[in-house]
Amino acid sequence: EIPVITVDGPSGAGKGTISHMLADNLGWHFLDSGALYRVTGQACLIEGVSWDDAPAVAEIARHLAVSFTRADSGEVLVAYKGQDVSRAIRTEEGGRGASTVAAIPAVRDALLARQQDFRQAPGLVADGRDMGTVVFPDAPLKFYLTASAEERAQRRYKQLIAKGEGVSLARLLEDIEERDARDSQRSVSPLLPAEDAIIVDSTATPIGDVFAQVMLKVSE
Ligand code: CDP
Repeated sequence: EIPVITVDGPSGAGKGTISHMLADNLGWHFLDSGALYRVTGQACLIEGVSWDDAPAVAEIARHLAVSFTRADSGEVLVAYKGQDVSRAIRTEEGGRGASTVAAIPAVRDALLARQQDFRQAPGLVADGRDMGTVVFPDAPLKFYLTASAEERAQRRYKQLIAKGEGVSLARLLEDIEERDARDSQRSVSPLLPAEDAIIVDSTATPIGDVFAQVMLKVSE
């Protein structure tokens, strides 16, 4: 069986950073499951489908023509029907679209097999919300990364400021709390740690130390 390490948790807990580092370090494949939900949301905007139109959104998810290619810079380019959507899907609106369409059960069903197809030799690091609970329940090693909402908003704030984007910290905190609520209250795959997940709270821990903790478990 090809090994999988799952990394789940709420928005801004450092999952992306940790799971990328882990995949690079192990030389394994990487699944950014959030990107699939983000592209689904973006595809709806492109096709003129409302995020609330469940049957139409599910149809889009079933036929999602998405591609991930790694540029020489190491950056991953995401395309929908050949059109570069890498930037568009990372905006706050992209996050809202993703979490809105992710609450539709038929959309989650449509994307399930596609996510499982990423499990290829020599191994996979899977980043998301339900990697350890639904998509790869048999994964031998599961992490659940978390941090306080204030800390997560702070980190996002610093990232955006570094990119030269003007944002308000209060607004970011509101967005994070709204997304947390939507992700944990939905009827399908609500955001919850798997029973056998190792919970890592990074509220007061720098990301480098979190990575060291995670690597320690991986090499056990
Ligand atoms: O980076 P961040 O955590 O903000 O977002 P993401 O991982 O790209 O996920 C965006 C949204 O997609 C989340 O708020 C979830 O609603 C949804 N999602 C999900 O439902 N299941 C996943 N496995 C991954 C993402």
